[in-house]
Amino acid sequence: MIDFKRQGERVEEEIISMRRHLHENPELSEEEFETSQFIQRKLDEYGIPYKKGYAKTGVLGIIKGGKPGGVVALRADIDALPIHEKTESSYVSKKEGVMHACGHDAHTSMLLGTGKLLNEQKADIKGTILLVFQPAEENAPTGGSQPMMDDGIFDEYKPDVIFGQHVWPDLPKGQIGIRDGAMMGASDRFIVTINGTGGHASMPHQTNDAITMASAVVSQLQTVVSRNVDPLEAAVLTVGKIEGGYRYNVVADKVTIDGTIRTLNPEVRSRVQERFNKIVEGVTAGMGGSAEIEHIEGYPATVNTPEWAQQVRATAQNLLGEESTPVLNSSLGGEDFSRFLLKYPGAFFWLGTMPKNGQPKPLHDPYFELDEDALAGGAEMMAQVATDTLEKLEK
Ligand code: NI
Repeated sequence: MIDFKRQGERVEEEIISMRRHLHENPELSEEEFETSQFIQRKLDEYGIPYKKGYAKTGVLGIIKGGKPGGVVALRADIDALPIHEKTESSYVSKKEGVMHACGHDAHTSMLLGTGKLLNEQKADIKGTILLVFQPAEENAPTGGSQPMMDDGIFDEYKPDVIFGQHVWPDLPKGQIGIRDGAMMGASDRFIVTINGTGGHASMPHQTNDAITMASAVVSQLQTVVSRNVDPLEAAVLTVGKIEGGYRYNVVADKVTIDGTIRTLNPEVRSRVQERFNKIVEGVTAGMGGSAEIEHIEGYPATVNTPEWAQQVRATAQNLLGEESTPVLNSSLGGEDFSRFLLKYPGAFFWLGTMPKNGQPKPLHDPYFELDEDALAGGAEMMAQVATDTLEKLEK
């Protein structure tokens, strides 16, 4: 067995410097050209062969072990968000309105560090390890994982198991978040257009007020989760945006309602959608108007294969101690890694990166920050879970 315990320290400085470089130079989904070049330069430097051009900017590093065996894929996402950074760090984003606010800069540099560690040990590796640098994770619902698979990323080497890791601000350094089943939620969007008839504000009887109908719809939608979903199941229905009207003395003829539905279980997902449609149609029809409903399917739920989630747990406990894998709830955040897990067995896990002051800022927040001291451990974790998995596959 190859032991990576404390080996992360050897690449720690480099991971942090790469992460700071990427943090200063973030690129949006489908525009990760410099980031992709940077990854390729590092793989060249480490002597790791790669292929490129998957989903435009995606890169596949290939580490062929000295011994025969299975195939394990490790994935990092590489894109940033359209958020204007408000932190005061010395490596604050140099790009107006673009920020690595989801830690993908850390994922990319950790996977490069992991690649370096693995490549040094490749003579002893039993099988092949793929380094998947994935673009466009933030670009739901298209994403980058399906386009990469459509472009044939796994045509030559088909993963027996795939792992993904995400920095997690709510867990402290040294902890790994892992669950045997659903890890992250399905994230769907809806857009509803409510149609009435407009007119003068002083003569409401000659109109059909779309704002009054929209208010009733939004209120009634609150009953879907509270009255139609099993209280022991997870669901969220959020109206995030509502738009309509012209001015104070005009009755609005049209309102649009834009929001999201998050679930973990496919049956709950369809139940929520069915109730949603009935309420929107019923309430507007009852008030004399009409509604057009559009459901935009987002990322499916990220569901871990129990066997490989247990491997993540075993590897973490070996590297970080018995207490390193607390029992925790799933998150209803959406994650593009879910589509890899629809095709291949594997697991998605969280790396504790809570800031040292103990006050986490959420992912996608303009003040988002992480504890860089946790990153060497993340690189170690990926290297170890890959080789542990190859050992297990051999048996
Ligand atoms: Ni993310």
